[in-house]
Amino acid sequence: MARRILVTSALPYANGPIHLGHLVEYIQTDIWARFQRLRGHECYYVCADDAHGTPIMLKARERGIRPEDLIEEMGRAHQRDFADFLIEFDCYHSTHSEENRYFAELIYQRLDAGGHIERRTISQLYDPKEGMFLPDRYIKGTCPRCGAADQYGDSCEVCSATYTPADLTDPISVVSGETPELRESEHYFFRLQDFEALLQEWATSGRLQEEVANKLAEWFREGLRDWDISRDAPYFGFRIPGTEDKYFYVWLDAPIGYMASFRRLCQERGLDFDAFWAAGSEGDTELYHFIGKDIAYFHTLFWPAMLHGASFRMPDAVFCHGFLTVDGQKMSKSRGTFITARSYLDELDPEYLRYYFAAKLGPSVEDIDLSLEDFTQRVNSDVVGKLVNIASRCASFIDKLFDGRLATGLAAPELYREFTAQAERIADLYEERDFARAMREIMGLADQANQYIDAEKPWQLAKDPAQRDAVQKICTLGLNLFRVLTVYIKPVLPGLANDAEAFLNLPEQSWADIQTPLLDCAVNPFNPLKTRIDPRQVEAMVDASKETLGGGDNPAKTAGRLAQDPIGEEITIDDFAKLDLRVAEVKAAEAVEGADKLLRLELDLGGETRQVFAGVRQAYAPEQLTGRLVVCVANLKPRKMRFGISEGMVLCAGPGGKELWIISPEEGAEPGMRVK
Ligand code: MSP
Ligand code: ZN
Repeated sequence: MARRILVTSALPYANGPIHLGHLVEYIQTDIWARFQRLRGHECYYVCADDAHGTPIMLKARERGIRPEDLIEEMGRAHQRDFADFLIEFDCYHSTHSEENRYFAELIYQRLDAGGHIERRTISQLYDPKEGMFLPDRYIKGTCPRCGAADQYGDSCEVCSATYTPADLTDPISVVSGETPELRESEHYFFRLQDFEALLQEWATSGRLQEEVANKLAEWFREGLRDWDISRDAPYFGFRIPGTEDKYFYVWLDAPIGYMASFRRLCQERGLDFDAFWAAGSEGDTELYHFIGKDIAYFHTLFWPAMLHGASFRMPDAVFCHGFLTVDGQKMSKSRGTFITARSYLDELDPEYLRYYFAAKLGPSVEDIDLSLEDFTQRVNSDVVGKLVNIASRCASFIDKLFDGRLATGLAAPELYREFTAQAERIADLYEERDFARAMREIMGLADQANQYIDAEKPWQLAKDPAQRDAVQKICTLGLNLFRVLTVYIKPVLPGLANDAEAFLNLPEQSWADIQTPLLDCAVNPFNPLKTRIDPRQVEAMVDASKETLGGGDNPAKTAGRLAQDPIGEEITIDDFAKLDLRVAEVKAAEAVEGADKLLRLELDLGGETRQVFAGVRQAYAPEQLTGRLVVCVANLKPRKMRFGISEGMVLCAGPGGKELWIISPEEGAEPGMRVK
């Protein structure tokens, strides 16, 4: 019987780009949702941008734009990234939407009516210059325990002490650099304790992975505390009904965004919202959230309690994944391993990352490592060397000797049945989110198919006219095995599966279709479906990530200028003297296909022409640059990029993206002139 399933991924914050860490989650969820649909189930996958909160408000302020414009721009960029990674949402919405306001108010009002909201006056650090209360991360100061300077308001990175910002010796506001003062204001609290028994019950009925259930048991032992759900103005979010200047804390309306996005989908497609969210809908439909382990507290305590307290149904399960490391370490900007979705896409095929993550993802919350060398090697050996190879070895014989026609029978029908007999086992692995084992099974079968072709040697038989029929049957079997495997791997490699369908003249395949082999029909000429990764592409991606300026994981970084983005490490005059800065004239400028950020510039350095790839495409149209004078680092070591060699660097100022200004000398400057 067809199941009816709704799945979500956590909503990415609208203040930064999607990076490879995020993609672990969206790829994992997308594979699972595609798998369910491939099996003939009704499965909706919704998500949204998480658009509220202080970091977004401050970032917009810093850029001199409205938060609405910032989240609009980010939302579009996020959706482009997801689409290019073949992540297929049924609806991608925003928490700053009317649907979300409606549900946030409704849930709040129901919780309040149920007596689960408490009002209490608390004191907090306030920035008198900016006129705002400061979140912990926007206060820095000296650790009260070990005396380390420049520590955040909630914890010390040196001695790991945790405290409240008011405990810091010499606190300063990261926003203005001023000393904050303690001020009182009334806050609204959600009484999580009211739901303790319910949550205990919910958490122990097999809905959570063991590690998460253990963590929860720990939280229960420590005792549940009420949760501060209000923030004072100025704040970018939804105003709390019945107040003048209080807003819902971003984490209150963020998970409600799942409902808002689904509501939007219901409006678009005429679906029944209540069938998935009303209390009592549990037996008929399924609701799952995919999240990272860092946000388990919100999804396994606050969220189910809020839902229940507001008379909605609770999720069937919350699936947690671990964090991504690159080459065994936390992603890092200086090492070039903080890789954005876009920098990856500028160099590499999105399906390769999908395959690699699938090959690494199991049902546990263990961290997963992207080892760049292993990535190249694994993709080349599995996807290209094993899977695609089966088709390339058989297709040319069918094409050349049999005019593209498959035989009327298979050379070894039992081998075909052996392949299709794995369908349920592989399906179970997908269902359990054990993608790593599913990939091992599939690649094991690919090995078997290749061994079969090795043993039959169609290339030798083809020389003997008496063996013609045998060759056709062997290659027909080979292509049939390939087809079975492309269906098995379709949730992971939907693009490859589509290309295979086109090659085999097949309509959109589903899981059950493989039970009938393809015989006595025409296939199309074969084009190589995938090519090997050149390690230089990976290098270029890492190099490009090293260059990316500003932005980042530290919320405080988005808050101001010098105070938040401190001057870098000191250099000596000798270091500086090493830079050979020259005036150059832009002779030609053009967009680089496949690279959103880059322009290819031809620079005249006074008699010498250089090619430079500059990351200014979002800030300048090519025609704005031709004829202009720029400052160029002339003695930078040439760097090989995917598009060609870059022989220098053009100096700019600004945080990046659209806000980048080329440094442009005027008044008598001439190409080649040294810049002091
Ligand atoms: N906005 C909140 C989620 C609200 S859900 C109602 C948030 N956003 S986030 O952009 O920081 O993260 C989005 C998701 O990506 C989270 O599930 C998070 O765990 C995941 N990841 C972010 N960085 C990650 C890695 N480096 N590795 C794996 N997952 C990571 O949290
Ligand atoms: Zn300390």
